[in-house]
Amino acid sequence: MKNPSKSFPEKGVEASSLIPDMQEIKSADAPWRNGKMFGYIYYPGDEAAKVAEEAYQLFCCENTLNPSLFASLRRFENETVQMLSDLLNGGSDAAGSFTSGGTESILMAVKTARDKALADNPDITSPAIVIPGSAHPAFLKAAHYLNVKVIQTPVRDDRRADVEAMSRAVTPDTILLVGSAPCFPHGVIDPITEIGELALGQKILFHVDACMGGMLLPFAQQLGYPVPPFDFRVPGVTSISADIHKYGYSPKGASVILYASRALRKHQFFVHTDWPGGLYGSPSFLGTRGGGHVAAAWAVINHLGRDGYLVRAKHVMETSGKLQKEINSIPGLKVISNPDLSVFAFTSDTIDIFEVGDVLSEQGWFLDRIQFPNALHVTVAYQNTGQADNLLSALKQAVATVKGKRISSASSHFLVSFVKGMSRVLPEKWFRKISSVASGLTTGKDNDKHGMGAAMYGITASIDNRKNVHDLVLDVLDRMY
Ligand SMILES: Cc1ncc(COP(=O)(O)O)c(C=O)c1O
Repeated sequence: MKNPSKSFPEKGVEASSLIPDMQEIKSADAPWRNGKMFGYIYYPGDEAAKVAEEAYQLFCCENTLNPSLFASLRRFENETVQMLSDLLNGGSDAAGSFTSGGTESILMAVKTARDKALADNPDITSPAIVIPGSAHPAFLKAAHYLNVKVIQTPVRDDRRADVEAMSRAVTPDTILLVGSAPCFPHGVIDPITEIGELALGQKILFHVDACMGGMLLPFAQQLGYPVPPFDFRVPGVTSISADIHKYGYSPKGASVILYASRALRKHQFFVHTDWPGGLYGSPSFLGTRGGGHVAAAWAVINHLGRDGYLVRAKHVMETSGKLQKEINSIPGLKVISNPDLSVFAFTSDTIDIFEVGDVLSEQGWFLDRIQFPNALHVTVAYQNTGQADNLLSALKQAVATVKGKRISSASSHFLVSFVKGMSRVLPEKWFRKISSVASGLTTGKDNDKHGMGAAMYGITASIDNRKNVHDLVLDVLDRMY
């Protein structure tokens, strides 16, 4: 049977029609340039973006796989790592690598910890990492790929890592402790100093995930915001991940993984010497790597400099502070915990917060949905900083709309409890069928175009059998790609 999807083109298409076609296709994407999308995009402003684009284009054909052929890229890569190490107070022996993003940086940190532990300690049979429940899923993904066990410990009421619980979870097989600065869901920084003490006491490596905060916290601190110690100045910290494609404002595909010492970094490298294709040495996960990301990251950092980042950090921190304060004053809404930076979530005990999200979406606002508890998630980046007042008035209106929409709320709640109930009694096979219909809702034309609708989120958050939710998400992925 012929595959009904797009077949391979017989003839090439002229750029003069191809590019307009792509622009047309792109026009259906979520618009973000208006600053109404609070997540996913970190835009430094037109001038700096142009610098990044030009730098990217200049090196878009080059390959960092062979650094001796492209000395320019090796220099940009090394200097980018050094600049980040300087920013995060790496000592004279600190070393690191440029990676494609936070997930790769974290994958490398876990691999390094595993390989060092296995090299140093033959008694370790089942290496395990101890992470707070709020740590990014990239740690679970890394552990899954690397055959490492994960012990997730509960967070405290303020959503920060519970160091006592982490301490109790440590065993002779523990190879790495993790803390976030800040964590994605609620934007709070874990007690890095205390985890560092635990790591030192137990002689375990300690990774700080500063993917989100690595290029914002140092500037917030310089601006006088109370930033707890989180970088290499904290005794016990042995590695840090920091994304340049987040608050470093470079195009996607740029992060660094930093280590306290070069000896530690050596465990990250991969070498194969017996291949007919030649001697193969690779510093990080990818093989061939595009030059564009590296060149653009180097260019943006040099173009903005400390003063450029300070200006952006000031706007971001002020906007985030204002939004949090005002959201807390809207009856029925509350910001979760006491977020340290520009990432936070808010919830409600009285109205369906996902319905509020849906009403906002209808008006062109985008806030991510998170769970446990159900909440809307806000990441404030530079391009959002002019939109605080508009978002607040849209939010007040959305809350009023949802309060006045008792009937639709009730039906949404009915749907949630119906599916929740069914998930307990239906055989697995039946539930999969239902879940695939439900996942059709999320990709269907009639649904919320840029995200799942309230009912769908409510369903996934309230189903007790997480295996069913797991299957549902698998179905969604299968349909999307
Ligand atoms: C705290 C934290 N760590 C890691 C990551 C993963 O980064 P990436 O999506 O670049 O792989 C994220 C992404 O949002 C994050 O917020």
